[in-house]
Amino acid sequence: MRNAEVPVLTLDGPSGAGKGTVARRVSESLRWHLLDSGAIYRALALSAELAGMAMDDVPALLGIARTMVVDFRLDERGRPQVLLDGNDVTKVIRSETCGKQASQIAALPAVRGALLQCQRAFRRPPGLVADGRDMGTVVFPDALVKIYLMASVEERAHRRYKQLMEQGVSGNIAPILKEIEARDLRDSTRSVSPLVPAPDAVILETTGKSVEAVVSIVLSQIRQRSDRML
Ligand code: C5P
Repeated sequence: MRNAEVPVLTLDGPSGAGKGTVARRVSESLRWHLLDSGAIYRALALSAELAGMAMDDVPALLGIARTMVVDFRLDERGRPQVLLDGNDVTKVIRSETCGKQASQIAALPAVRGALLQCQRAFRRPPGLVADGRDMGTVVFPDALVKIYLMASVEERAHRRYKQLMEQGVSGNIAPILKEIEARDLRDSTRSVSPLVPAPDAVILETTGKSVEAVVSIVLSQIRQRSDRML
């Protein structure tokens, strides 16, 4: 199978819309590879931070972007892991600081360009589930199925709050809501690859829907599209 023939499912949308969980479940069900593109931006931000670089030092960021190796695998208990140059960075890249820095460097056009090849390299048989903001619009415009997940700001803040409580982190919902709104604004108003649905994307509203319900809608979209191609 030529690389361009490998089927891709893109899952785009704002933070907290449930892309990560849905992408993982769908990739497990189809036995397709999984690309968490946000983790790539986060890993680059972490690398830059560790090297003492400023988040707007474009030449330095490009140097790292061209050489860093990000990989995804399952640990011995079947939980997803992110490796940066062979080191497990799964937890450290999830911090609020790293998310904020990732969002800052993601607004730099040259950085986005330098990461294109790294993301496209994940397209391998039998298929790829790609989760991010511009998977359907820029990185995989020829994807088999494009889904844009939506959820209200309140629902997304509530999910994030629940997640933090489960991790034993105490918090308050108001600052989470504010941070999500700020991130939405930054992601959707940047000049390059702004967060918008691809014209041929299926818009899926997840507010009030269970993960199982969303996964089953996504899988049925893939089945329908594959049937039409046979
Ligand atoms: O999805 P996640 O929250 O891990 O992504 C971190 C940040 O990386 C996002 O806020 C966004 O600014 C950026 N990002 C992006 N394009 C992607 C994935 C993530 O700009 N495809």
